[in-house]
Amino acid sequence: MKNPITVSVTGAAGQIGYALLFRIASGAMFGPDQPVALRLIEIEAALPALEGVVMELDDCAFPLLAGVTTTADLDEGFRGANWALLVGSVPRGPGMERNDLLGINGQIFTGQGEAIGRSAADDVRVVVVGNPCNTNCLIAMRHAAGVPSERFFAMTRLDENRAKSQLAAKAGVHSSDVTNMCIWGNHSSTQYPDFYSAKIQGKPVTEVIDDMAWLKDTFIPAVQQRGAAIIKARGASSAASAANGVVDTVRSLCTPTAAGDWFSVAVCSRGEYGIEAGLIASMPIRTEDGKSWSVVEGVELSEYSREKIDASVAELQGERDAVKHLL
Ligand code: NAD
Ligand code: LMR
Repeated sequence: MKNPITVSVTGAAGQIGYALLFRIASGAMFGPDQPVALRLIEIEAALPALEGVVMELDDCAFPLLAGVTTTADLDEGFRGANWALLVGSVPRGPGMERNDLLGINGQIFTGQGEAIGRSAADDVRVVVVGNPCNTNCLIAMRHAAGVPSERFFAMTRLDENRAKSQLAAKAGVHSSDVTNMCIWGNHSSTQYPDFYSAKIQGKPVTEVIDDMAWLKDTFIPAVQQRGAAIIKARGASSAASAANGVVDTVRSLCTPTAAGDWFSVAVCSRGEYGIEAGLIASMPIRTEDGKSWSVVEGVELSEYSREKIDASVAELQGERDAVKHLL
């Protein structure tokens, strides 16, 4: 039997937490022969509800679940964490942009970053989900003393999955036929789902979907606004699909990427594609060994793509400037 992987999850009693924990414990994240130990972090007021979630985890008798700890203490919660999934934070409501949450949520990530630096395992990798996730990730990264910047990620995988699903529906194929789908920039309404580089059954999307007006004026806004559309329809922000995005993100980072393909996750830029170094920006990523990762080089950017990416990066710069006092 392998040693358990320790996974810390903040906001564990929330909506995403409720959809996520059972998938981690079932083996969906790390595979069917990899035990996991969960360290669940909540604010004090939510600990009683979290106990109910733990009762349900117990009631599943998951063969791979090696232990569950609940706490409101950050050092206790991140102790020995190999993965820290930072979900806990306030979701937006109707009519808000995600960066309207910076003032409420940003400060959460200072203390969490510090505790990760003090208490997590030497190999900790951090995925930030709580919005605005790119800039919250930047805040956590800046406070996590001793944790290299390449271990920090913000989630744009839900956007990638949304984009694949929209393109597949339009082309009349399965979403698994869509590859090389890169979300560039911010997890926000400025994100750029790059249909120019994406492929359907190995062919450029623009060859298969010969409808530039649909790609530019329907597809892109649909992906950019999908989170808002779900909030409007459901009265609450996406939860099960977001949890699925977390599972996919971690699996993609732990599993060698298929030849020629890539996946989307926001990482700390080193200046790739002219994106200012130090920002947490979504780019095309590959891993060869399931441990280290790299930004895919040589993706051709049309003038249109360049403008879209620059607009999203400008938004990230504005968010970074707005939280200077937290950095
Ligand atoms: P929710 O309100 O249902 O749950 C959030 C939980 O976080 C609550 O249980 C709350 O008690 C807890 N929490 C708040 N502050 C905390 C802190 N300091 N430490 C630990 N826990 C804390 O919200 P949700 O639907 O689960 O969404 C969580 C976040 O994820 C929101 O910010 C939402 O916007 C974001 N989100 C991101 C994506 C993405 O693609 N990146 C997708 C969906 C949702
Ligand atoms: C999403 O994309 O569904 C989440 O970021 C929630 C939101 O605020 O849109």
